[in-house]
Amino acid sequence: MKNKITLLITLSFGLEAVVKRELIALGFHDLRVSNGKIEVDAKIEDIPTLNLWLRSADRVLVKLGEFEAKDFDTLYEGTHALPWEEWIPEDGRFPINGVSVNSVLESVPACQSIVKKAIVERLGDEYDTNWFEEDGAEYAVKVSIRKDIATLTLDTSGTGLNRRGYRIHAGPAPLKETLAAALVQLSFWRDERLLIDPMCGSGTILIEAAMIGRNIAPGLNRAFAAEDWDKIPFTAWKQARSHARSCIISDKELNLFGYDIDEEMIYASKSNAKAAGVAKDIQFEKKDIRHLWIDQEHGILISNFPYGVKMGGYAELNKIYISMHKTFKNKLGWSVYVLTADRKFPDYFKRARPNKVRKLFNGALEVAYYQYFGEKPLA
Ligand SMILES: C[S@@+](CC[C@H](N)C(=O)[O-])C[C@H]1O[C@@H](n2cnc3c(N)ncnc32)[C@H](O)[C@@H]1O
Repeated sequence: MKNKITLLITLSFGLEAVVKRELIALGFHDLRVSNGKIEVDAKIEDIPTLNLWLRSADRVLVKLGEFEAKDFDTLYEGTHALPWEEWIPEDGRFPINGVSVNSVLESVPACQSIVKKAIVERLGDEYDTNWFEEDGAEYAVKVSIRKDIATLTLDTSGTGLNRRGYRIHAGPAPLKETLAAALVQLSFWRDERLLIDPMCGSGTILIEAAMIGRNIAPGLNRAFAAEDWDKIPFTAWKQARSHARSCIISDKELNLFGYDIDEEMIYASKSNAKAAGVAKDIQFEKKDIRHLWIDQEHGILISNFPYGVKMGGYAELNKIYISMHKTFKNKLGWSVYVLTADRKFPDYFKRARPNKVRKLFNGALEVAYYQYFGEKPLA
């Protein structure tokens, strides 16, 4: 059995550069980046590390193979030729998920059935059986067909990597943890710099910043599907977790502040921060953004604004925008980062045109990340 494997890191469109940077920081090179995914050569033992440490990626998949499939026969043959028995034991559960984009084979349920049949027959020959109980660990298979190229993968993560396990309370429009981590990593915020989120909802941006500041691996408090896989030595998980625990910086002071008009959101933020182990790093307080008072010359603001119709209506939004403009128009030392689906935001926040606008997705919703760079503090 070979130890060298290919992993597919999936991610939300627009976050390729952030996840690439994370992978390089974790020591991975020779990355093949394309829309929504990054392919990387790895070893089996890297699976725990990547699941534990990737902050902005969605999932870590093992790539079993890739081939052209314009009809069901080639899909069957291509799938049957892959070494499934190297991964899936006789009692393994292997549900099949599928997606098809711009391909001749467009019926996803039909493709899933073909893939299931091919794997069952391959494993049947290997284990000398034609019946699988499927009552063991989960090996979720994904068949993804794009422009007639089928990619077959196994999901090592289980639930998406955004599920860190700390979000006990969510607001009406919570930000995915992976996206929040990306917003922080795309900003100028570093360790001790002052960071505020004046409309923090359930606190996700600040909690992710605190975890980055303290070097807490985002997956440390959750489980992953591949923890139950025979193929990955138990010691690999144990070592990766104990290494991650040893990396936590406990004696660092962070300057993180979160406000929200809604008392319940402040309660939610506090409980979530506590569950994430960063309660003492963030100060949360009930406050209307219209009463925000900034006396520091330099700082960073990162916030995910309400999106008009969904939350409160345009009249309310206008008031928020006007108060943002008033508070920050002369605060040239502040870098301001706003994620919103409302394209009118830059017309109201008139300090300058945004230095950068990045198109991102909050779930299925297209949003923009408006970035206004502040002047650097004098050294
Ligand atoms: C899109 S949500 C933020 C979600 C947050 N990023 C999270 O992950 O949970 C916007 C938040 O703005 C808050 N909000 C609305 N109007 C406000 C105001 N005038 N001042 C402060 N907060 C306000 C809402 O209560 C809501 O929690």
